[in-house]
Amino acid sequence: MRKKGNKSSFLSLFCGCGGFDLGFIQAGFKSVGAFDIDPVAVETHRLNLDCGAVVQDLRSEWDFLSALGGTDVVIAGTPCQGFSTAGKRRFDDPRNHLLIIAGEIALRIKPKIFIAENVRGVISGQHKQYWERLDALFRSNGYKTRDLLLNSEQIGLAQTRKRMVKVAWATLKEWKPIDFMKTGRDLKDALDNIENAPNHEIRLLHPKSELAVIAKKIKPGQKLSNVRGGPRSVHTWDIPEVYGEITNSERRVLEIVLRLRRRLRLRPIGDADPVLALDITKEMGRSSRREIASLLRKGYIRRMEHRYDLTNAFNGKFRRLRWDKPSPTVDTRFTNPRYFLHPDEIRGFTIREAARIQGFPDSFLFTGKEKDQCCLIGNAVPPPLGKWLAESVKRLL
Ligand SMILES: C[S@@+](CC[C@H](N)C(=O)[O-])C[C@H]1O[C@@H](n2cnc3c(N)ncnc32)[C@H](O)[C@@H]1O
Repeated sequence: MRKKGNKSSFLSLFCGCGGFDLGFIQAGFKSVGAFDIDPVAVETHRLNLDCGAVVQDLRSEWDFLSALGGTDVVIAGTPCQGFSTAGKRRFDDPRNHLLIIAGEIALRIKPKIFIAENVRGVISGQHKQYWERLDALFRSNGYKTRDLLLNSEQIGLAQTRKRMVKVAWATLKEWKPIDFMKTGRDLKDALDNIENAPNHEIRLLHPKSELAVIAKKIKPGQKLSNVRGGPRSVHTWDIPEVYGEITNSERRVLEIVLRLRRRLRLRPIGDADPVLALDITKEMGRSSRREIASLLRKGYIRRMEHRYDLTNAFNGKFRRLRWDKPSPTVDTRFTNPRYFLHPDEIRGFTIREAARIQGFPDSFLFTGKEKDQCCLIGNAVPPPLGKWLAESVKRLL
């Protein structure tokens, strides 16, 4: 264990590349350890932060605990994939149990404060049982707890990322978080003066590639989506160079299917459902048999028993960001142009752009494969959010 000076100490479980940890260090805390199962994350952590991060499977290897008594704060950013509404969201995803494991590890150390961070989906549906179990675990051990729903914009970031945080504390004091620092910024501020920053290798899409043809059709604030109408959606049939030519009456059928699959949905949940040919015909005011047969051949729609649906629903693909707005959540695919496009260039974002939006300083370096780097950044707690939390809990110590 590291020797502690006068500074308050913190231990990081599921530390990833160290976004949360960097915030604590910036707020004047001293690290006594950082653990993660992923060697790539630990390598990046060690490259940037003097915490001696260690590769460790926290499901089973708890030997390190004996050296850590007296630690002031334990922070835990456990995996969110099983809770995220962007994924399959399986209740029994084994990663969900890591939230409880984080609490059990912390309670062996008995810190004054414990902080868990996760996606908003952790408090919705039956998944909230994990969050409630974590709460009960701390309360039954004499801690007080408080949940916060935080939006990164409130911390002054150019990002609309929303996250749940649980703070558990075992001091006699009452606690409330400090005021939010600033109002949010826009993308232009976040990416200002980035040209010579490290990890900023711009890769324009090949002008003749399919991706570039699609990207050119999508304006700032728009995305490729067959799920919704309106000015913010570009449909696959608006890009015949890639998805194939259609006639005006075929376009009408596609637009009818787009509308009806939501309006006449069969299930109370889910995005939309396939529609009957009869309903399409009613909307057309005449038989739509010819168009349906042609669209089936061209691959725009598919048959599902007696119903028809769009072959590609595409929601939230090729989302082109705007300079004058904050970015949506930086996730693990943020540098993939199939998901996010630069506001005015035919390309996706660079690693440095993703890191800037997450609030990492340019001195924080990422090595290894670009895909891994993007995962580390997308999974991280934005360092300014970590700093704000660290400053908020300091008064309890
Ligand atoms: C959401 S990320 C943490 C991000 C980190 N808090 C930050 O701010 O950069 C979750 C981390 O849990 C790690 N993890 C998953 N299973 C683990 C296990 N069994 N033991 C230790 N770490 C694990 C992953 O490798 C990943 O880095």
